[in-house]
Amino acid sequence: MNILSPSILAADFKNLGQQIADVDSAGAQYLHIDVMDGMFVPSISFGMPVIESIRSATDMVFDVHLMIMDPIRYVEEFARIGSDIITFHQEAADDPQAVIDKIHSFGKKAGIAIKPGTPVSVLLPYLDKVEMILVMTVEPGFGGQKLIPETIDKVREVRKMLKDKNLDTDIQVDGGINDANVMTIVEAGANVIVAGSAVFRGNVKENASRFLKIMGN
Ligand code: DX5
Ligand code: ZN
Repeated sequence: MNILSPSILAADFKNLGQQIADVDSAGAQYLHIDVMDGMFVPSISFGMPVIESIRSATDMVFDVHLMIMDPIRYVEEFARIGSDIITFHQEAADDPQAVIDKIHSFGKKAGIAIKPGTPVSVLLPYLDKVEMILVMTVEPGFGGQKLIPETIDKVREVRKMLKDKNLDTDIQVDGGINDANVMTIVEAGANVIVAGSAVFRGNVKENASRFLKIMGN
């Protein structure tokens, strides 16, 4: 089954609780939470107090995407406030294996992310160490961008690398995904689909239900 992870970066923050209830009742399994530090990416989003506050609003899996430099500094705190999956960027960590180990030490799932310009080969040492690989389909930092078509080939390559090692690790894709391109990406091998604007612009519940249907759920 494919997983939908609506990204609250695109939510209407004055109605955040209601919007989370909408994607939850539509059947989305994960909630994608983008943390940006203004250093790894130009933008600043939100951090611990927001995550802590929405934790009691839903039982959805909290899929936390850290777009922050030197992520190991904050793993403990993100684990404590209720993250279920903690994904960090390979480009932002001096020692990715140490970050993965730290995430696991708190009983959380670890994800490793790469930007569109980063070759998939950097993932090789971590393929059997993480629960999820995030292939960014836009340059991280902002919602509402267009998917970069070349990134779909990277998804294919990562799926092949995993298959060659007999692994069926989750592949997440994030950025510019909509009704029209989601199936191409699923066919390329991704099974955890992040969608921000495509879910939160307009009727949130309807958008999430439609997405899930298209994805075959
Ligand atoms: C971008 C974030 C994404 C963003 C996706 O840096 O990581 O999660 O919210 O938004 P859309 O789906 O609008 O491209
Ligand atoms: Zn994200």
